[in-house]
Amino acid sequence: MPALDVCVVGEINCDLILYGLPKALEPERETIAEGFRLTLGSSSAIFAHNLCALGTRTGMISKIGNDPLGQVAVTRLREGGVDVSAVRKSAKDTSTGVTIILAQTAQRYILTYPGTMAEFRYEDIDREYAFSARHLHLSSFYLQPALRPQVGRLFREAKESGLTTSLDTNDDPEGRWANDLLEVLPLVDIFLPNEREALAIAQCSELADAVQRLAGLSPIVAVKLGARGAIAREGENKWHCPGIDVGVVDPVGAGDSFDAGFIHKFLAGAGAEECLRFANVAGAFSTTRHGGTEAFRDPVAMKEFFHGQLDADR
Ligand SMILES: Nc1ncnc2c1ncn2[C@@H]1O[C@H](COP(=O)(O)OP(=O)(O)O)[C@@H](O)[C@H]1O
Ligand SMILES: [Mg+2]
Repeated sequence: MPALDVCVVGEINCDLILYGLPKALEPERETIAEGFRLTLGSSSAIFAHNLCALGTRTGMISKIGNDPLGQVAVTRLREGGVDVSAVRKSAKDTSTGVTIILAQTAQRYILTYPGTMAEFRYEDIDREYAFSARHLHLSSFYLQPALRPQVGRLFREAKESGLTTSLDTNDDPEGRWANDLLEVLPLVDIFLPNEREALAIAQCSELADAVQRLAGLSPIVAVKLGARGAIAREGENKWHCPGIDVGVVDPVGAGDSFDAGFIHKFLAGAGAEECLRFANVAGAFSTTRHGGTEAFRDPVAMKEFFHGQLDADR
């Protein structure tokens, strides 16, 4: 059993990104892109990869297909230092999920085939492995329909085993934001939505009201505000970190990198305010390169950026 700080439960897939497409996409015509990248995608995998790059010992539990894209994603995680010994292959014919991003100049189409992430279930989780870690994190609550009804059970067992927990739901593609999540949140120590998600989950039109409601369920709530930075709340304490002006190359994975920064500091014993400041730097750093993990694959740039930002803060 590897010594783990964090066990991440969630989906693994690749992102296929086509850059510089024309504004109008015509059916039945050959449309030429200016650039293409194949990179590690999916919220859970990007979080695991970047958390490991920050120096936290991280393992992942997931399900992939028996196909080359699954291998590419797992290899990328392994190269990043993530323990992938608990990643299982589907016994069925299901492919690994994939996200195809069609990037035009000012907007993007994001097309996802869920693949194995839709069939990943509680029974696929090696609980002995999961609960050997200090902390459990789950991403993409709404993209894992087979696991979703058992997330509460998983988090309850993690708490009973002495782990701390965190959750980033990400978007609900169906836009339903059903109440089942509200039963899980009291088992979540650190809840990490973005602004849109916080409003939808709390069913509020004002962010302050949403955070008030969510803070009554989870001890720490940190809400990501894109270029405007992020806020955090713990009980009656509130903090805000303004966005860092970095000249964004690609916002993909910024939220997952923020989460990684927050949990990295939390496990080092920092208070919520310090976690927020570090997370805000991690989110901004992610946007300086293409895809969700490219920035974190450059340890020299990472060290420089974090030192520069955190020293400037003092
Ligand atoms: N344009 C940006 N400039 C600076 N920082 C950013 C920018 N976009 C995102 N970030 C950082 O990354 C964090 C997460 O980004 P956000 O887009 O809000 O999350 P998500 O990807 O979950 O929607 C933000 O809270 C902020 O710290
Ligand atoms: Mg997000």
